[in-house]
Amino acid sequence: MRKTVRCRLEGDSPTGGAVGDPDAGPSSAVEAAPLGAVSRLWHHGRVKFAAEDQNYLKQRELFSAETGPRELWGVVDHWPLYAGVANLARYLSISDLLRSTLGVPGHVAEFGTWRGATLMLLAKLLRIHDPSGPKVVHCFDTFEGLSAFADEDGDASKDAGRYRGSYEELLELMTLYDLGDDIDIHRGLIEDSLPALIERRPEISFSFVYCDTDLYDSTATILRELAPRVVAGGLIVFDEWNTERWPGEGIAVNEYLNENVGIFTVEAPLHTRQPTLALRKR
Ligand SMILES: C[S@@+](CC[C@H](N)C(=O)[O-])C[C@H]1O[C@@H](n2cnc3c(N)ncnc32)[C@H](O)[C@@H]1O
Repeated sequence: MRKTVRCRLEGDSPTGGAVGDPDAGPSSAVEAAPLGAVSRLWHHGRVKFAAEDQNYLKQRELFSAETGPRELWGVVDHWPLYAGVANLARYLSISDLLRSTLGVPGHVAEFGTWRGATLMLLAKLLRIHDPSGPKVVHCFDTFEGLSAFADEDGDASKDAGRYRGSYEELLELMTLYDLGDDIDIHRGLIEDSLPALIERRPEISFSFVYCDTDLYDSTATILRELAPRVVAGGLIVFDEWNTERWPGEGIAVNEYLNENVGIFTVEAPLHTRQPTLALRKR
C-alpha cells in the first residue's frame, strides 16, 4: 500500500528553485527572508523586490498556518493556485527559451539540478513539443549541494552544501513519469563529469543548455567545453548572471564573452527576474 504523502504549503522561493533557503522550514524562511536569502537582484546596497518578497513569504506562511497540511497531489494538480507569480514567470520564461530552440538539432542540458524541478520541466516540455524527436536532457549535479568554490565566488563558500538534492527521489520521479529514457544523469563534479562525457562522446551537440550552478569554476568549464558544441540558433541560458549574491557565474560568462567576440548574440529573457541572460549561437 502506498503511504499517504502530505505537504505543508511552504513551496519554493519567489523566483523558483534557486532562491531562498532550501534547508529552512517555513518559519525560518520568513526569518531568513529580510535580505540576501530572498532576492538576488541588488542595487546600491538594496535588494530589488526584497520588501515585496518578504511580504509574500510572510503572507503565504500565514496562509499555510491557517489551512494546515494538504495532500501532496491535491496541491500538485492545482499548482497555478499555489505557485507565486515570480516562480511562474521563471518557468514560463524557460519554456519560451526552450521552445525557441526546438527547430535546432542537438540535445538539452541542465547544469545544477538540485531537486530536479527545472530538469523535469525541460523533459516534460520535450514530451509535449517534441515527442518523436531524439533530444535527451542531460543532467549534471553532485546532488551534494554547492562545493568547489573559487576566489571569483566571493563569500559563497559560506553556503557550502546548500541545495543538496536527492538522487534517489529524482530517479523515483523519473520512473513515475516514465522519463527514464528522456533524461541522462551525470552524477559528480561538472569539472570532471563534463570533460568525461565529451571524451566518451566527441560527436555530442546541444541546442539548449541551462546553467544554474551559481559558481565560477563549473560555469567556466561549461562554457569552455560546450560553447563549441552548441549548434547555430541554440542557446546557453544563465540563472544567475549579473547577480551580486552569486558573482562567480557572471564573471565566468563575461570573461568568456570578452575572449570570444562574435560567436554568440546576447539576449535578455523576457518578463522574468531569472534567468538573467541567454546567449544565442550565431
Ligand atoms: C541553485 S541549485 C540548482 C537549482 C535547479 N536548477 C532548479 O531550478 O531547481 C545549484 C545546484 O548546483 C549544483 N552544483 C554546484 N556546483 C556544482 C559542481 N561543480 N558540480 C556539480 N554540481 C554542482 C549543486 O549541487 C546544486 O544542486
